[in-house]
Amino acid sequence: MSEPKKLFIKTYGCQMNVYDSERMAEALGGKGYIQVQTPDDADMILMNTCHIREKAAEKVYSELGRFKKLKEAKPDLKIGVAGCVAQAEGEEIMARQPMVDLVVGPQSYHRLPAMEEAVQQGKKAVDTDFPEEDKFDTLNKRPRATRGPTAFLTVQEGCDKFCAFCVVPYTRGAEVSRPKERILREAADLVEAGVREITLLGQNVNAYHGHEKGLAGLIWELDKIDGLERIRFTTSHPNDMDDALIEAHGTCDKLMPYLHLPVQSGSDKILKAMNRKHTRDDYFRLIDRIRDARPDLLLSGDFIVGFPGETDQDFEDTMGLVRRVGYGQAYSFKYSTRPGTPAAEKAQLPDEVMNERLQALQALLTEQQVATQNSMVGKEVSVLFEKAGRQEGQMIGKSEYLHAVHATAPAEVKGTIRRVRILESRTNSLHGELI
Ligand code: 5AD
Ligand code: SF4
Repeated sequence: MSEPKKLFIKTYGCQMNVYDSERMAEALGGKGYIQVQTPDDADMILMNTCHIREKAAEKVYSELGRFKKLKEAKPDLKIGVAGCVAQAEGEEIMARQPMVDLVVGPQSYHRLPAMEEAVQQGKKAVDTDFPEEDKFDTLNKRPRATRGPTAFLTVQEGCDKFCAFCVVPYTRGAEVSRPKERILREAADLVEAGVREITLLGQNVNAYHGHEKGLAGLIWELDKIDGLERIRFTTSHPNDMDDALIEAHGTCDKLMPYLHLPVQSGSDKILKAMNRKHTRDDYFRLIDRIRDARPDLLLSGDFIVGFPGETDQDFEDTMGLVRRVGYGQAYSFKYSTRPGTPAAEKAQLPDEVMNERLQALQALLTEQQVATQNSMVGKEVSVLFEKAGRQEGQMIGKSEYLHAVHATAPAEVKGTIRRVRILESRTNSLHGELI
């Protein structure tokens, strides 16, 4: 048998890219590639890229500059660009960096093996179609290798919401849900390989319609899989939080009490300009209903500051919303103009204004995050242990609220859920003892 070829994948951006990178590695596994952890002696480098903000997209070109040196030293090294920058910029990438051999958009990963063959023959390969066939249908069945205790599983992709700032409807395409049978089979395979917690992924995961009862219907089916102990899902849109899904948060024991529910802004005027299709009050009412169903649920969110037209008062409305809702953790970003999106036509705010607002919002969100973490001290939580800590005898896992928890524990706890009493809250982690 010939030596396996070495594949290095660098993943940027969201969790869906993490999932996609795994699937690409599996697809190329069939062509004799094994995945390696450094680019230095790789035969192929794939960059799985993100286009959501300008900074993320620009990173691709600076990183390609670095990989170029490796290719100069090893001319048969193949370099590919996958993901949302590949989709958005296609052949432009090769024009800017001619040493790139392959450009593949997120909906064409199942065509990678054929593209790899073309590249080996010295051709360039570009595929940024939105093909009819389901890529997951064509991609290899997931191998039965032993896996860590947690896994991502994409159930829905793309978006039809067209928020005025967002490239996702263009890079990932229209909203498509995978049929429930395939998801349930994949979940059962993951559990058989050792997975205890599955995070269902979708750009609009709660718009999932591959089950007649929506995402809640799928969650209840997954609930029946023995050995699967935890279910999470991300990312959701407020307008798709239906009654059944809210209820599941109160009644499905396997569904974890954590919800990432981005609102982006607290100003009605900006929400409208963003095309979010709900008001600030709609969001408050929704949060109240979710908290009625599951009072201890930890909320997470995304915010954009400096959207075109945002006044001091609009920004204050966002700060007020954050104060009223109280987030366990959240992400905040400066508005970034994305070519081709409706908001790109509008006048930009000065950078100093955006920086000031971002700082103020991040300070408030950090304060809330620290307070939430501190409130866990003295409480008991359930931890799914995932790996050994850096300190001798320590194991690390996640609580039901997605906090990283460190505890002194034997290595055997890996892959199991244990009760832990929280003793201390540190930056970004909790420390406790097994009960
Ligand atoms: N500028 C800044 N942030 C953005 N996001 C999406 N598009 C943009 C943009 N053009 C943020 C949103 C979204 C998260 C994934 O990224 O908050 O929820
Ligand atoms: Fe982008 Fe999310 Fe809006 Fe869809 S719902 S356009 S993915 S921000």
